[in-house]
Amino acid sequence: MTEPTLERPFTAEVANASEAHALGPEYVRAVGKVISSHVRNELAGAVVFDEPAIALAPAPKEKWLACRIAMEEYGHHLKFNKLAAELGLEDPLAARTLSVFDYELRTWTDFVVLKAVVDLAEVVLMEELKDCTYLPLRHLATKLLPEERFHVAFGRAASGELATAPSNRSALTQAVHDLVHFTLPFFGRSVSPNNELFRRWGIKHRSNDESRVEFVTRCRRFVVDDLGLGFPAVSTSWSG
Ligand SMILES: [Fe+2]
Ligand SMILES: [Fe+2]
Repeated sequence: MTEPTLERPFTAEVANASEAHALGPEYVRAVGKVISSHVRNELAGAVVFDEPAIALAPAPKEKWLACRIAMEEYGHHLKFNKLAAELGLEDPLAARTLSVFDYELRTWTDFVVLKAVVDLAEVVLMEELKDCTYLPLRHLATKLLPEERFHVAFGRAASGELATAPSNRSALTQAVHDLVHFTLPFFGRSVSPNNELFRRWGIKHRSNDESRVEFVTRCRRFVVDDLGLGFPAVSTSWSG
C-alpha cells in the first residue's frame, strides 16, 4: 500500500481492531490518539462539570436532568474506554485533559451555558467522526451524537429561559464569554502534526481551524440570534 498523504488520504473502511493492527502501528497510533482523548475528556467533563451540577441544580426537575446528563457522560467515557481496550491502547488516562476542564464551574447558569457551548464543540468533533475510516469509532460517534445533541439542546433551552429575565443577562454574558474562550483551544493548534496524521488516515477530514470556524459560526448564531447577547471577539486560529 502507498503511504497516504493529505492530498490522497486513506479511505478504506477498517472493520475492527485486528484490521487496524494489520494496517500498521501508525494507523493504530492515529485512531488510538482520538479514542484516548475521548476516554479522558468524557470522564473529566463528567467529574468536574456534570456531577457537581446535580448539587447546583435549583429544583427537582433540573436535578433529574443533570443526573441524566452526568449518567450519559460517564457512559460515553465507558464506551470509548471499551474501544481503547479492544485496540490494546495503553492507559488512556495517563495524558493531560484539555484546558477547558480548568474552567471553574460556580453556578447553575454557568452549567447551562457550558452545555450549550462546550458540548457544541463536542458535537462538531463527533459529527466529523461519523465519516471516520475506523468503523467501531464511526459507529460509536453515530450512536452517541443524539445524546450530545440533547446536552446542547438542554443548555440552549435553559439559557434561553434565563435570558428572558434582564437580571440574569450579565451573568449569562460573563459565562458565554469565559466559556467561548475556554473552548477555542479544544480543537487543537492551527499547525498540528496530529491533525495531519488524522487526516492522512481518514480519521478526520477537517483541519483544526476548520473545526474551530464551524464551532464559532454555530455558537455565534445561538448567542446572538437566540439569546440576544453579544458574541466575544475571537480568533479562529490558536497556536498554544
Ligand atoms: Fe459526552
Ligand atoms: Fe455531552
